Amino acid sequence: MPDVAPETLNRVLWKIPNVLCLIGSRAGDEWNGMTQSWVTQVSMEPVLVAISVDASAVTNRLIKEGGSFTVNLWDRADTRPFVKFSKPATKDGMTLNGRPVREGVTGAPIFDEAVAFIECTVWQTIECGTHDLFLGEVVDAGFQTEEDEPEIARMEDTRMKYGGVKRGGH
Ligand SMILES: Cc1cc2nc3c(=O)[nH]c(=O)nc-3n(C[C@H](O)[C@H](O)[C@H](O)COP(=O)(O)O)c2cc1C
Repeated sequence: MPDVAPETLNRVLWKIPNVLCLIGSRAGDEWNGMTQSWVTQVSMEPVLVAISVDASAVTNRLIKEGGSFTVNLWDRADTRPFVKFSKPATKDGMTLNGRPVREGVTGAPIFDEAVAFIECTVWQTIECGTHDLFLGEVVDAGFQTEEDEPEIARMEDTRMKYGGVKRGGH
């Protein structure tokens, strides 16, 4: 741990602007959606998008087994789903927590209500302590709204926090 008070480290790290989105994952009959904030593009050629996923999350296992994931960008005006998707989701027919999904080209779920989506196959996985960094090669992407410039949800639109130092670890 750096020689910085954990509270300070948290407050500084929480200042990093982050998106708030849902990750879709699937291995066979097991599907999941998960609230995610650590997402960024990391290469232009190939086009790679990285997500860092807790090693103990269901999503982590499904991405490893399924070899793909989707990033579902959400309307900024509707941050309600993020609370429910911070626990493993319930699948009922072609819905996750009651929200309709369809299969992307890799078989991973894309949320019909997402304003935009990015679908990736796993290009490389890097173990990063508590998390695994999945570098995903983009295989599909698109908008699902009529709006020209939709505003997408960000961490600062909610009172939720993620990251900083591990709770109980100080
Ligand atoms: C606002 C918010 C942001 C989150 N961001 C991430 C993230 O970037 N990476 C991660 O591994 N978990 C993140 N989580 C935690 C997961 O959503 C949570 O651990 C979930 O239970 C794990 O999902 P799963 O076991 O259903 O796959 C976040 C949670 C919240 C509430």
